[in-house]
Amino acid sequence: MSDLLKKINPNRIPKHIAVVMDGNGRWAKKHGYLRAIGHKSGVKAVREIVQASDDIGVKYLTLYTFSTENWNRPKLEVNALMELMIDSLTKELDGFQKNNVKIVTIGDLSLLPSRCKKKFADVVEKTSKNSGLNLIFALSYSSRLEIISAVKSITTQVLNKEIKLEDIDSDVIDKNLYTNSIPDPDLLIRTSGEQRISNFLLWQVAYSELHFTPVLWPDFKQADLFSAVIDYQQRERRFGKTSEQIKK
Ligand code: FPP
Repeated sequence: MSDLLKKINPNRIPKHIAVVMDGNGRWAKKHGYLRAIGHKSGVKAVREIVQASDDIGVKYLTLYTFSTENWNRPKLEVNALMELMIDSLTKELDGFQKNNVKIVTIGDLSLLPSRCKKKFADVVEKTSKNSGLNLIFALSYSSRLEIISAVKSITTQVLNKEIKLEDIDSDVIDKNLYTNSIPDPDLLIRTSGEQRISNFLLWQVAYSELHFTPVLWPDFKQADLFSAVIDYQQRERRFGKTSEQIKK
């Protein structure tokens, strides 16, 4: 057992970890490669982190894989990313099944090229009965658009008299987000030294612990995940209460 693993309290594992996988481009540049090679190396880190999360009993792992803003990148890079996702899902499907991993997607998938959309739909369908780790890919995702879509849906329900205006509360909003049945992240990790949320799960991270690391995503290993979890376990989550109230 690794020394870091021994430091993890098995009774306080974050149920949901969300990750902004940043730094693939800078990693590629540092090593003199094309950006696409950075993304390819990023997939290796995805595999390692999925395995490590599963090993310590994380139930939900959400990966910020492609934002709506990423559509503005050069066409060549966007195409390379789409092909990489298709290829990775094809290669990883057996592993997902063996490890009981359930694939879920959030975001506006209608914008994805049809082969990519089909591949995700296929993997989601084939793993839908799995009961282990929920691996959530945020794809063509924007938290603000998610909130706008929830507002429209709730307004429609009010206009149709399905719910009353005064019944709108946090639970109603939760139910109308892409993440409706997914608990809020306990821990949000962002790699590459940037300290921003970048339009990711804005509503859902209200009480998440934030962990920023300078490590570039392709270099992010099991040990880095374990360090983030240890850091999380040292935080006191007060949810607005006092320290004394929490300790009771
Ligand atoms: C951010 O680094 C990374 C991305 C925009 C893409 C991440 C996607 C993957 C690793 C593919 C995973 C997919 C599957 C299906 C396993 P960046 O390009 O913004 O890096 P930079 O800020 O250094 O330029």
